Amino acid sequence: MRIAVLISGSGSNLQAIIDAVASKDLKHVEIVAVIADRNCYGLERALDAELPTWFVERSETLSSEIDEICENEKVDLIVLAGFLSILNEEFCTKWDKKIINLHPSLLPKYGGMGMYGAKVHKAVLANNEKESGATVHYVSSGVDEGEIILQESFEIPAEADLDWLQQKISEVEKPLLLKAIRKLADKSI
Ligand code: GRF
Repeated sequence: MRIAVLISGSGSNLQAIIDAVASKDLKHVEIVAVIADRNCYGLERALDAELPTWFVERSETLSSEIDEICENEKVDLIVLAGFLSILNEEFCTKWDKKIINLHPSLLPKYGGMGMYGAKVHKAVLANNEKESGATVHYVSSGVDEGEIILQESFEIPAEADLDWLQQKISEVEKPLLLKAIRKLADKSI
Protein backbone atom coordinates (compact mmCIF):
# COMPACT_ATOMS: atom_id res chain seq x y z
CA MET A 1 0.00 0.00 0.00
CA ARG A 2 1.42 3.35 -1.07
CA ILE A 3 0.81 6.03 1.53
CA ALA A 4 1.12 9.80 1.69
CA VAL A 5 1.64 11.34 5.12
CA LEU A 6 0.46 14.93 5.61
CA ILE A 7 2.03 16.94 8.43
CA SER A 8 2.09 20.41 9.99
CA GLY A 9 4.05 19.91 13.20
CA SER A 10 6.83 18.06 14.93
CA GLY A 11 6.12 14.91 12.94
CA SER A 12 6.51 12.47 15.81
CA ASN A 13 3.71 10.37 14.34
CA LEU A 14 5.36 10.49 10.91
CA GLN A 15 8.53 9.25 12.64
CA ALA A 16 6.60 6.37 14.20
CA ILE A 17 5.43 5.35 10.70
CA ILE A 18 8.95 5.72 9.24
CA ASP A 19 10.38 3.53 12.03
CA ALA A 20 7.63 0.93 11.73
CA VAL A 21 8.15 0.64 7.97
CA ALA A 22 11.92 0.34 8.46
CA SER A 23 11.59 -2.34 11.14
CA LYS A 24 8.92 -4.20 9.13
CA ASP A 25 6.50 -3.72 11.99
CA LEU A 26 4.38 -2.22 9.21
CA LYS A 27 4.49 -4.56 6.25
CA HIS A 28 3.25 -3.89 2.72
CA VAL A 29 3.44 -0.15 3.37
CA GLU A 30 5.58 2.33 1.47
CA ILE A 31 5.71 6.05 2.25
CA VAL A 32 5.68 7.56 -1.24
CA ALA A 33 4.99 11.16 -0.23
CA VAL A 34 5.33 13.41 2.77
CA ILE A 35 3.47 16.68 2.35
CA ALA A 36 3.76 19.63 4.73
CA ASP A 37 1.66 22.79 4.68
CA ARG A 38 4.15 24.80 6.73
CA ASN A 39 7.81 24.84 7.64
CA CYS A 40 7.90 22.33 10.48
CA TYR A 41 10.23 19.88 12.17
CA GLY A 42 8.39 16.99 10.52
CA LEU A 43 9.86 18.13 7.20
CA GLU A 44 13.36 17.55 8.57
CA ARG A 45 12.39 14.07 9.67
CA ALA A 46 11.12 13.32 6.16
CA LEU A 47 14.27 14.65 4.53
CA ASP A 48 16.49 12.75 7.00
CA ALA A 49 14.67 9.57 6.02
CA GLU A 50 15.19 10.51 2.34
CA LEU A 51 11.49 10.41 1.62
CA PRO A 52 9.95 12.23 -1.35
CA THR A 53 8.79 15.45 0.28
CA TRP A 54 6.59 18.36 -0.80
CA PHE A 55 5.76 21.70 0.69
CA VAL A 56 2.37 23.12 -0.23
CA GLU A 57 1.36 26.69 0.50
CA ARG A 58 -1.74 27.23 2.61
CA SER A 59 -3.82 28.71 -0.19
CA GLU A 60 -7.03 28.21 -2.17
CA THR A 61 -5.29 25.58 -4.27
CA LEU A 62 -3.94 23.48 -1.39
CA SER A 63 -6.39 20.59 -1.87
CA SER A 64 -5.90 20.40 -5.64
CA GLU A 65 -2.11 20.49 -5.27
CA ILE A 66 -2.24 17.63 -2.79
CA ASP A 67 -4.62 15.77 -5.10
CA GLU A 68 -2.15 16.11 -7.96
CA ILE A 69 0.75 14.79 -5.85
CA CYS A 70 -1.34 11.84 -4.62
CA GLU A 71 -2.47 11.03 -8.17
CA ASN A 72 1.07 11.24 -9.57
CA GLU A 73 2.48 9.08 -6.78
CA LYS A 74 -0.36 6.55 -7.12
CA VAL A 75 -1.25 6.89 -3.45
CA ASP A 76 -3.63 4.32 -1.93
CA LEU A 77 -4.01 5.92 1.50
CA ILE A 78 -3.57 9.49 2.76
CA VAL A 79 -2.62 9.70 6.44
CA LEU A 80 -3.18 13.01 8.22
CA ALA A 81 -0.66 12.93 11.07
CA GLY A 82 -0.99 16.27 12.78
CA PHE A 83 -2.06 18.05 9.57
CA LEU A 84 -3.83 21.30 10.37
CA SER A 85 -5.22 22.52 7.03
CA ILE A 86 -8.77 21.64 6.07
CA LEU A 87 -9.08 19.65 2.85
CA ASN A 88 -11.99 20.77 0.69
CA GLU A 89 -15.19 18.84 0.02
CA GLU A 90 -14.22 17.89 -3.54
CA PHE A 91 -10.99 16.33 -2.27
CA CYS A 92 -12.69 14.48 0.60
CA THR A 93 -15.36 13.10 -1.74
CA LYS A 94 -12.85 12.01 -4.36
CA TRP A 95 -10.64 10.26 -1.79
CA ASP A 96 -13.54 8.93 0.29
CA LYS A 97 -12.39 6.08 2.62
CA LYS A 98 -8.81 6.71 1.50
CA ILE A 99 -7.97 9.46 4.00
CA ILE A 100 -7.48 8.83 7.69
CA ASN A 101 -6.86 11.30 10.50
CA LEU A 102 -5.42 11.01 13.96
CA HIS A 103 -7.22 13.10 16.56
CA PRO A 104 -6.15 13.53 20.20
CA SER A 105 -9.54 12.96 21.85
CA LEU A 106 -12.30 10.42 22.07
CA LEU A 107 -14.36 11.66 19.13
CA PRO A 108 -17.10 12.78 18.78
CA LYS A 109 -16.05 14.58 21.96
CA TYR A 110 -13.68 17.52 21.48
CA GLY A 111 -13.66 17.47 17.70
CA GLY A 112 -14.51 19.99 15.01
CA MET A 113 -13.16 23.21 13.62
CA GLY A 114 -10.51 24.82 15.82
CA MET A 115 -10.16 21.79 18.10
CA TYR A 116 -6.57 20.68 17.76
CA GLY A 117 -3.43 20.20 19.83
CA ALA A 118 -3.33 21.78 23.28
CA LYS A 119 -6.80 23.31 22.80
CA VAL A 120 -8.29 19.83 22.98
CA HIS A 121 -6.35 18.90 26.11
CA LYS A 122 -7.16 22.19 27.86
CA ALA A 123 -10.87 21.71 27.17
CA VAL A 124 -10.75 18.10 28.42
CA LEU A 125 -9.07 19.22 31.67
CA ALA A 126 -11.34 22.24 32.12
CA ASN A 127 -14.35 19.92 31.95
CA ASN A 128 -12.85 17.57 34.53
CA GLU A 129 -13.19 14.62 32.19
CA LYS A 130 -12.40 11.31 33.83
CA GLU A 131 -11.08 9.81 30.61
CA SER A 132 -9.63 10.81 27.28
CA GLY A 133 -7.86 9.08 24.44
CA ALA A 134 -7.05 9.12 20.76
CA THR A 135 -9.10 8.37 17.66
CA VAL A 136 -8.24 7.33 14.12
CA HIS A 137 -11.10 8.03 11.73
CA TYR A 138 -11.86 8.33 8.04
CA VAL A 139 -11.90 11.90 6.85
CA SER A 140 -15.12 13.30 5.43
CA SER A 141 -15.90 16.89 4.56
CA GLY A 142 -17.29 17.52 8.07
CA VAL A 143 -14.28 18.26 10.30
CA ASP A 144 -13.59 15.25 12.59
CA GLU A 145 -16.92 13.68 11.64
CA GLY A 146 -15.91 10.69 9.51
CA GLU A 147 -16.42 7.08 10.52
CA ILE A 148 -14.28 5.98 13.46
CA ILE A 149 -11.77 3.21 12.71
CA LEU A 150 -10.07 2.78 16.11
CA GLN A 151 -10.03 4.44 19.51
CA GLU A 152 -7.88 4.00 22.59
CA SER A 153 -8.93 5.45 25.92
CA PHE A 154 -7.29 5.93 29.31
CA GLU A 155 -8.27 7.29 32.72
CA ILE A 156 -7.21 10.78 33.71
CA PRO A 157 -5.90 10.89 37.28
CA ALA A 158 -7.15 13.78 39.47
CA GLU A 159 -3.68 15.36 39.59
CA ALA A 160 -3.19 15.32 35.78
CA ASP A 161 -2.08 18.55 34.14
CA LEU A 162 -1.56 19.63 30.53
CA ASP A 163 1.92 18.11 30.33
CA TRP A 164 0.65 14.78 31.62
CA LEU A 165 -2.21 14.68 29.15
CA GLN A 166 -0.03 15.67 26.20
CA GLN A 167 2.52 13.03 27.09
CA LYS A 168 -0.10 10.34 27.58
CA ILE A 169 -1.79 11.10 24.25
CA SER A 170 1.56 11.07 22.51
CA GLU A 171 2.25 7.57 23.92
CA VAL A 172 -1.17 6.18 23.10
CA GLU A 173 -1.71 7.62 19.63
CA LYS A 174 1.33 6.18 17.85
CA PRO A 175 0.54 2.48 18.30
CA LEU A 176 -3.09 3.31 17.51
CA LEU A 177 -2.19 5.00 14.21
CA LEU A 178 0.12 2.13 13.26
CA LYS A 179 -2.60 -0.38 14.10
CA ALA A 180 -5.09 1.45 11.86
CA ILE A 181 -2.63 1.64 8.96
CA ARG A 182 -1.79 -2.05 9.42
CA LYS A 183 -5.48 -2.93 9.38
CA LEU A 184 -6.03 -1.05 6.10
CA ALA A 185 -2.82 -2.40 4.54
CA ASP A 186 -3.83 -5.97 5.38
CA LYS A 187 -7.22 -5.36 3.81
CA SER A 188 -5.62 -4.07 0.62
CA ILE A 189 -3.54 -7.21 -0.10
C1 GRF B 1 -0.88 14.68 17.51
O1 GRF B 1 -1.18 14.81 18.87
C2 GRF B 1 -2.14 14.32 16.74
O2 GRF B 1 -3.05 13.60 17.49
C3 GRF B 1 -2.70 15.66 16.39
O3 GRF B 1 -1.59 16.48 16.18
C4 GRF B 1 -0.46 16.00 16.91
C5 GRF B 1 0.67 15.86 15.93
O4 GRF B 1 1.89 15.57 16.51
N1 GRF B 1 -3.63 15.55 15.29
P1 GRF B 1 3.16 15.26 15.61
O5 GRF B 1 3.35 16.39 14.62
O6 GRF B 1 2.94 13.95 14.91
O7 GRF B 1 4.32 15.18 16.57
